[in-house]
Amino acid sequence: MSLSVVVLAAGQGTRMCSNVPKVLHCIAGQSILGRIISTLRLLAPERLVIVHGHQGEKLKDAFSEQTDILWAYQENQLGTGHAAKQALPLVGNVDRILILYGDVPLISSETLSKLLKTVPSHAMGLITWEAENPTGYGRIIRDEKGKVIGIVEEKDASDAEKKIKECNPGFFVVPKSLLEPWLSKLKPQNQQNEYYLTDILKFAIEEGITITTIFPKQNWEVLGVNDKIQLAELERAFQRDQAISLMKQGVTIRDPNRLDIRGSVKTGFDVEIDVNVLLEGNVTLGDQVKIGPNVCIKNAVIQAGTTLLANCVIENAVIGANCSVGPFARIRPGADLANNVKIGNFVEIKNSQVGSNSKINHLSYVGDASIGSDVNIGAGTITCNFDGIRKHKTTIGNGVFIGSNTQLIAPITIGEGSTIGAGTTVVKDVPANHLIHNQITHRSVANWAKTEKELE
Ligand code: UD1
Ligand code: MG
Repeated sequence: MSLSVVVLAAGQGTRMCSNVPKVLHCIAGQSILGRIISTLRLLAPERLVIVHGHQGEKLKDAFSEQTDILWAYQENQLGTGHAAKQALPLVGNVDRILILYGDVPLISSETLSKLLKTVPSHAMGLITWEAENPTGYGRIIRDEKGKVIGIVEEKDASDAEKKIKECNPGFFVVPKSLLEPWLSKLKPQNQQNEYYLTDILKFAIEEGITITTIFPKQNWEVLGVNDKIQLAELERAFQRDQAISLMKQGVTIRDPNRLDIRGSVKTGFDVEIDVNVLLEGNVTLGDQVKIGPNVCIKNAVIQAGTTLLANCVIENAVIGANCSVGPFARIRPGADLANNVKIGNFVEIKNSQVGSNSKINHLSYVGDASIGSDVNIGAGTITCNFDGIRKHKTTIGNGVFIGSNTQLIAPITIGEGSTIGAGTTVVKDVPANHLIHNQITHRSVANWAKTEKELE
């Protein structure tokens, strides 16, 4: 059965108190609407129509790369039924329409697929759930046999109806042939003078159309975002769910409430993650990787057996097997560390390859460099890669020893096996197996005392 999808996102989102449209606020690093769109794509609908209105251009800009999205404009926000009607000319010639609200970000494709599978082709279907606190939601009204006979909005509900906990989160699947006439028949006769989408249930009942309901897999999937408090609550619910699924795969997480994942994570066996860790983009953690507290990793591969000590920041980098990084190391884009590399505290590595068994243990900047294997870079070494206009490359051969407090003025090559003495400024290429050090005079004055005269 063919399907098109309509997302209602023309509302203002006043309670967010923000200049950013509500559906562009993020959960786990992805916008509310972006998340819904990604989920809907898993259903492979014929067409994806988004109803926009308030700040609509911002929405269109945010998704301009997804050129197959169809945008229906709702000039005045006259209600969810009116919004759905604006989308009808764009839905195409399909059997069924799935309508959902644009402010419910965590709905899963499993729950939506279950809805589509459960509802017979000529019936109408919706998701419902038992809200702990149903205030603000439309209540599901059932007859004594349990058949759905309507949805009553909070503002129109009697005291008895307000006690009902089963609510409407706003996911409807309706045959297109029924939806068209039903939307045309809606009238804004209610407390809010709006065209309620939920009133189509009345027509279904009048016409003897079956109404099928399902529950979501998890209740938080159907919770909406109306303010920053709900946004934060859903963020936590989602983060906890991600942590639980990692733990089910065998990852040790010291505190699931202190791990945030904004992207996707692949993990090997026996990975350990300490507290306050942020993983963004695509992160791969090999077998027995250990991540210390307060570590941020974005788009990186960390290979088996490597330990990241506390407070490291790693972005767009590859870290080989059995390395030790940190504490307080910054591994920037383009860093590629081979196996058994040791990076210590206050070391910054950018756009550089570091060969196996090499060590950069303290207070160094390595940028635009290619470092061989078994290299030892002493404390306070700087690759001076920028002349104010261009970046230049530093090449360091295998087995080089660089003494502390050394400046390597790039472009420069240090040949294999060479040694640079501490405190050297290296300005010329160094051949293999040489010792280089600057001639530094060392003056010694005996019995020195700071007298008034000498301070003048
Ligand atoms: C709606 C439902 C209610 C449900 C609740 C779930 C109706 C009449 N009520 O109420 O039963 O429990 O959502 O959160 O449908 N929108 C438009 N154009 C409009 C009005 C709304 O596009 O003219 C969009 C909004 O951007 C939003 C969605 O529709 O994404 C829901 O609108 P909202 O005003 O939040 O509806 P509720 O009053 O919460
Ligand atoms: Mg709402």
